[in-house]
Amino acid sequence: MKPVTPEFLAGALRVEKSAMPNHCYLSDVYEYYLTTRGELTGAFAGDRLVGIGKLTVLWDGSGWLETLRVEREWQRKGVGRALYGRYMEQAQQYGCPYLRMYTGADNVSSAALARVFGLSKAAQFREYSAALPQETDGTGFAPVSEEDAFALLSPWFEKYNGYVVMNRTYYRLNEATCRGLAQNGRVWRHAPSGTVMVAGARFQPQKALHIALLEGDRQAGLRFAGLLAQQRGAGRLTCNFALENRDLEQWLQSAGFSAPGGDLITMELKR
Ligand SMILES: CC(C)(COP(=O)(O)OP(=O)(O)OC[C@H]1O[C@@H](n2cnc3c(N)ncnc32)[C@H](O)[C@@H]1OP(=O)(O)O)[C@@H](O)C(=O)NCCC(=O)NCCS
Repeated sequence: MKPVTPEFLAGALRVEKSAMPNHCYLSDVYEYYLTTRGELTGAFAGDRLVGIGKLTVLWDGSGWLETLRVEREWQRKGVGRALYGRYMEQAQQYGCPYLRMYTGADNVSSAALARVFGLSKAAQFREYSAALPQETDGTGFAPVSEEDAFALLSPWFEKYNGYVVMNRTYYRLNEATCRGLAQNGRVWRHAPSGTVMVAGARFQPQKALHIALLEGDRQAGLRFAGLLAQQRGAGRLTCNFALENRDLEQWLQSAGFSAPGGDLITMELKR
């Protein structure tokens, strides 16, 4: 078990492709991963890299478990268990109060492995996506400061099941997360209409702009999201939200969004 340093990147990409051929992003995020707290770990069988897993310490100190992949021929041989063991060591080292991950609602092996280490289901989500709107306009929208973000967003925590989601990273809503989001320029407000939006990207900004929360005048928010996406060269808009948030879902459908994939769940462990 050792960090995936650049000499092992080709092997890590091979593992990713073998484990999840339709959901590969490591080549885009590898450099970014090196800037975060938490290791991209490689599991080896002799000299061969056969599994990878990343822990990232998020703004609130929680450990986010991501990019867990075991080469197809090596699955169900204890590699995932070993990578989780390394997650647990890091959780101890960084003093993470929570560990969290997401997986497909139908991903039996991923959820079973997480349960072995004490994680349990927290909430369920659905991801919608759409092409950019024809009409874009950002008049009156301004970024929200770190100091103001928590008060502005906290009324919506429950409706969003306590999470905002970008790049399928499920950020638990609390004061530290609100500050982090605002510091990164991802919290927006249109004061005259009382519109609030969390939008941006954790990585791959050219792929999609993620609308993580949108309340108030949603049409105005959509036009502004379209403008942000255009400015950043993002090809699509994505919105991943709590399954219970029917009102948002109906609005997304009416605005031309669709949900091509299956539902997703988060699992968590309080340490
Ligand atoms: C999910 C994944 C990482 C698991 O890794 P793995 O090396 O195959 O898992 P392990 O062999 O270490 O399994 C450890 C334990 O997890 C549970 N488990 C793993 N796969 C399971 C399955 N298919 N069904 C039921 N339980 C399973 C079992 O309790 C297992 O212990 P056991 O073999 O003694 O019964 C691997 O299957 C994988 O890469 N899948 C494709 C990519 C993916 O889905 N990643 C997660 C996306 S969020």
